[in-house]
Amino acid sequence: MNIQLLNKNISDIKADILVEFLTPDALIEHAEVKILNQAGFKAEQDSICFLHEKGLLFCGTDSKKSDDIRSAATSMVQALKSSNYQSVAFSVIKKNSLAAMVEGVILGGYEFNEYKSKPKEITLKDISLASNELDFEELKTTFDEALIIAKATCFTRDIVNRAPQELNPETFAILAKKLADSNSLECNILAEDDLKKENMGAMLAVGRASIHESQLIHLSYKPANPKKIISLVGKGLTYDSGGLSLKPSASMVTMKMDKAGACAVLGMIKAVSELKLDIEVHAFVGAVENMVGGDAYKPDDVLVSRSGTTIEVRNTDAEGRLVLADVLTYAQETVNADAIFDFATLTGACMVALGQYTTGLMGHSHKLKHDLSRAASASGELTGSLPFNRHLKKLLKSEIADISNVASKPYGGAITAGLFLDRFIKDENKNKWMHFDIAGSAYTESAWDCNVYGGTGAGVRFMSEYLKNI
Ligand code: BES
Ligand code: ZN
Ligand code: ZN
Repeated sequence: MNIQLLNKNISDIKADILVEFLTPDALIEHAEVKILNQAGFKAEQDSICFLHEKGLLFCGTDSKKSDDIRSAATSMVQALKSSNYQSVAFSVIKKNSLAAMVEGVILGGYEFNEYKSKPKEITLKDISLASNELDFEELKTTFDEALIIAKATCFTRDIVNRAPQELNPETFAILAKKLADSNSLECNILAEDDLKKENMGAMLAVGRASIHESQLIHLSYKPANPKKIISLVGKGLTYDSGGLSLKPSASMVTMKMDKAGACAVLGMIKAVSELKLDIEVHAFVGAVENMVGGDAYKPDDVLVSRSGTTIEVRNTDAEGRLVLADVLTYAQETVNADAIFDFATLTGACMVALGQYTTGLMGHSHKLKHDLSRAASASGELTGSLPFNRHLKKLLKSEIADISNVASKPYGGAITAGLFLDRFIKDENKNKWMHFDIAGSAYTESAWDCNVYGGTGAGVRFMSEYLKNI
């Protein structure tokens, strides 16, 4: 599908079908109100109505705000993809909702067909957005940026959706190297021998039973005079079987998505480099497979992390925090960043706390929390803040090591996981760090908003929005 923004009046564009977004109020005033009434169209949010003989498609929306337009544009593109039209055109409503239109079309129209022997044929080829009233140059910038970010989100979705027999820590590293080559990023990859030399005892333990070598991937985007330096860290469990604390069969299905944090940070650095932002960005990925076997790490093991902090393993399914402990330490030692953000499908508890649509946001800095919540609202992603407290922190106490990898009580699991990571954040970085639990928001088995089945690309849009505005 090609999407373009044209400096033209909609009536001057040749397309098989024209689309109008209508609020219930606008419907009453519309020239076609009678026939739309007869068709039972009430302009309800996400409803659609074709008037084929007139070459028109109407899309209902509660308002002209971004969140409603994004969702309406998703319904539009999905309806058009099931039709036989080849080209479509519609007018830009206003500058504020242009990005949402692009997201609705690109993200709502996304499909992952890699493993289908006969993918459904889509006739829709050309999508034109028209505007000749507003400042076109400004609109074009908004359009181009939104397209870069939406495509980076699809890039993230594509990796998340890949099956675990194909996408393992080693092939993940190859894929990251390819991204580095195509986007002129620096790339440094540490395989197991290097990880041993670097004393990454926690990360290595998690991947020990896998036939694939664990990999630490470091990509960097370095413009000439950066305003800020940002480190992004991603959990990249290409499969999480739970290890010896084996997951029940039903919970294991979908655990290829446990690499979504890593896929998101790759999408972010891709977006930043294509937006040519004036900030230096480092993406660190811990790519590991959590499996069972004679060599598997065990509950009762005591691991020595890179930082020297010893960890009592009480549950091998709480593996993401072990990988992140070492990667966060490495990231802090390698780059002196102004901010450190980690992204991880870390806990089922985050979904219990916030629901499956919302990313959990944790950290010490009120300012970062505020700025990132705002960026998320502007991007259309949902975030909710989960507060740390000293009582939950005490639940990570271990009798035989410095810290236990799971809390001694079952409540507040997303927060205790965040507090575990906090243990590996240096004092001078406490106010520079934020942790994002994307366990619920990164993957879906039923479509919602502009998300379709599979990886959603959670994090890419709000982080790009935040970095754009630094
Ligand atoms: N990868 C899972 C978390 C997860 C669960 C992500 C469901 C997406 C959907 C993580 O490694 C895990 O297994 N966490 C455990 C922690 C527990 C053992 C303290 C969990 O959430 O049950
Ligand atoms: Zn796990
Ligand atoms: Zn996991």
